Amino acid sequence: MATILLTGGLGFIGSHTAVELIALGHEVIIVDNLSNSRIEVLEGIEKISGVKPVFENKDVSNKLDIEQLCSKYKFDGCIHFAAYKAVGESVNKPLEYYQNNIASLVYLLQVFRDKGFSNFIFSSSCTVYGQADEMPITEDAPVKPAESPYGNTKQIGEEIIQEAIKAHSDLNAISLRYFNPIGAHESSEIGELPLGVPLNLVPYITQTAAGIRKELKVFGNDYPTPDGTAIRDYIHVVDLAKAHVKALDRLMKHENNDPYEVFNLGTGKGSSVLEAINSFEKVSGEKLNWTFAPRRAGDVIEAYADTTKANEVLGWKAEKNIEDCMRDAWRWQQKLGK
Ligand code: UFG
Repeated sequence: MATILLTGGLGFIGSHTAVELIALGHEVIIVDNLSNSRIEVLEGIEKISGVKPVFENKDVSNKLDIEQLCSKYKFDGCIHFAAYKAVGESVNKPLEYYQNNIASLVYLLQVFRDKGFSNFIFSSSCTVYGQADEMPITEDAPVKPAESPYGNTKQIGEEIIQEAIKAHSDLNAISLRYFNPIGAHESSEIGELPLGVPLNLVPYITQTAAGIRKELKVFGNDYPTPDGTAIRDYIHVVDLAKAHVKALDRLMKHENNDPYEVFNLGTGKGSSVLEAINSFEKVSGEKLNWTFAPRRAGDVIEAYADTTKANEVLGWKAEKNIEDCMRDAWRWQQKLGK
């Protein structure tokens, strides 16, 4: 059994990962400042796993908080989820994004180095590829100039980790580049909790079907894709959570070839916005109210992963398809109600 620090562990991906780690008998210490999450998520995790993880209401962009945490517990690893993640907001609040996303990472790495802790997993994003020249996207595809401060925090974050590892041989890390995480736990005890009007497609779909939003706007119908709408690789959050466990295991067992590795996490299959809507309508039996709207600034045409590296090296493969995702997202929305 290992003791794992989950920063942002009450968030969407963090909470699902907590469940998977607990299922394998690990001790999970969740640190979260509740800036974009709710304390009730802790009960959801407990209902599923039968274990209430230790919760520390602290801010990982405050070095003192991290020092206190790392003095209180001896961590065998860390999965660093805590970060601001709204692309549009980051354009208006770049300094807050750099402060929150970068300071937390630097402090965590400093304290981990000083304490002699290792095994660090970083939440990165397929946004680092921008509009990739070739599909599917492999880990070797070039990192393109970031389109937003948010995207830049992921690129800079990866560079910081790489350089820290070069200088400090006790540190090791894996960056996981997520494609589009959606869905919810099939128990409906935990799921995505967007604050206010959702910015992402699937919560907007489920809220529209639930009558909270009037109409979904499909951004762009003139993309060079078969149906004219943009293509993404939608991955079930439980599949994504399982990949974190595999990555952590690889570091803890010293199976990594390199002290710093990068993996794409997606299904390998691209779906257009219209295909996503069709999948939702099929599994929910609901007719969705939607209309075409102009393209959204900053959106890429298509992004889907080549998952060969994660399949072969991590021994991980996404098991759920977009219909499973939509079914679980809809069940979760129905539980949340209006
Ligand atoms: N979309 C709509 N209507 C909406 C919301 C989204 O048509 O109301 C479309 C978007 O234009 C896009 C697709 O649905 O074509 C997916 O959009 P999301 O906002 O759900 O996801 P993104 O691909 O834009 O963003 C996600 C993550 C980001 C990450 C990015 C990397 O949310 O954190 O992938 O590409 F940076």
